[in-house]
Amino acid sequence: MFILNFEIKDISEQSILDAILICIPEEKRDDPLFKAGIDTKRNWALKMLKKYGCFVKVAYVGSKLVGLIQYEPIPRETVVEIDCIFVYPKSYQHKGIGKALLEALIEDMKKPKPYFNNKIPNALITYAFETPAGYPQNKFFEQMGFKRIREDDPFFLYYPLIENYKYVPRETKYKPQEEDKGKGLIFMNPNCPFCIDFTEKIKESIKEVADIPIRVINVFEEPEEVTKRGSVPFCTVNGKPIQTFFTDKENFQKEVKTAISASF
Ligand SMILES: CC(C)(COP(=O)(O)OP(=O)(O)OC[C@H]1O[C@@H](n2cnc3c(N)ncnc32)[C@H](O)[C@@H]1OP(=O)(O)O)[C@@H](O)C(=O)NCCC(=O)NCCS
Repeated sequence: MFILNFEIKDISEQSILDAILICIPEEKRDDPLFKAGIDTKRNWALKMLKKYGCFVKVAYVGSKLVGLIQYEPIPRETVVEIDCIFVYPKSYQHKGIGKALLEALIEDMKKPKPYFNNKIPNALITYAFETPAGYPQNKFFEQMGFKRIREDDPFFLYYPLIENYKYVPRETKYKPQEEDKGKGLIFMNPNCPFCIDFTEKIKESIKEVADIPIRVINVFEEPEEVTKRGSVPFCTVNGKPIQTFFTDKENFQKEVKTAISASF
């Protein structure tokens, strides 16, 4: 059997750019929206590194970065949320890198953390979204022992780090603000280099069916705008959370039209 030699490391200021680029297809790297997405994520990543220390474990084959697991501490719940795990190129998948990245994170989280008041986190949680990038994240996490948070949702998963711990998500609702009336709000998360491209696509899609002002809220830079609204989705129109993801354009636009004509 072919054995691949790789090494797992903590992210550093020097490796941030490579860790961002691994997620972007070569042909998109000069696209202005992706360039802006790279800058936005880079600014976020530098701030994360200062605030929490390591928040990405990276895998190297020689000097080439070939995989990552990115995560964010959620101090109010004493859990760590995994944003994504990715091994690239595909030829390096299913060779033990993903498992080694996850194991490195689990080992690290057995040590007390200052951002959890010198405690260890209760669990890892993740929303293991689907992409065409290879073996599905949710199947991988289930193979690694993650459990479903809600029986009917195969993507929302957790892994207890404390014996018998069961993660129960906080049930918070979106609280529309008076200022949201008649407006579109896009809640942009700078933790992904696709953030600017997605934001522009959502804007365009709304504008095609509704002539309304649109505001973009960076969820990392403007936490107070998030907190006062409770739990925020990726987009709201006229104070109504939009459930359909923008990639399903027809149903997304239907929901936007319904939201704009509903009473506030
Ligand atoms: C999910 C992923 C990170 C797993 O990493 P990996 O290095 O490929 O996985 P590993 O080799 O560590 O495999 C661990 C286990 O996962 C399962 N697995 C991984 N790839 C598999 C495949 N192609 N077929 C079947 N099972 C697979 C197996 O249970 C495996 O254990 P085994 O080796 O004992 O069979 C990787 O496949 C990947 O990047 N997929 C795309 C994920 C994605 O969409 N990320 C978001 C990008 S924005």
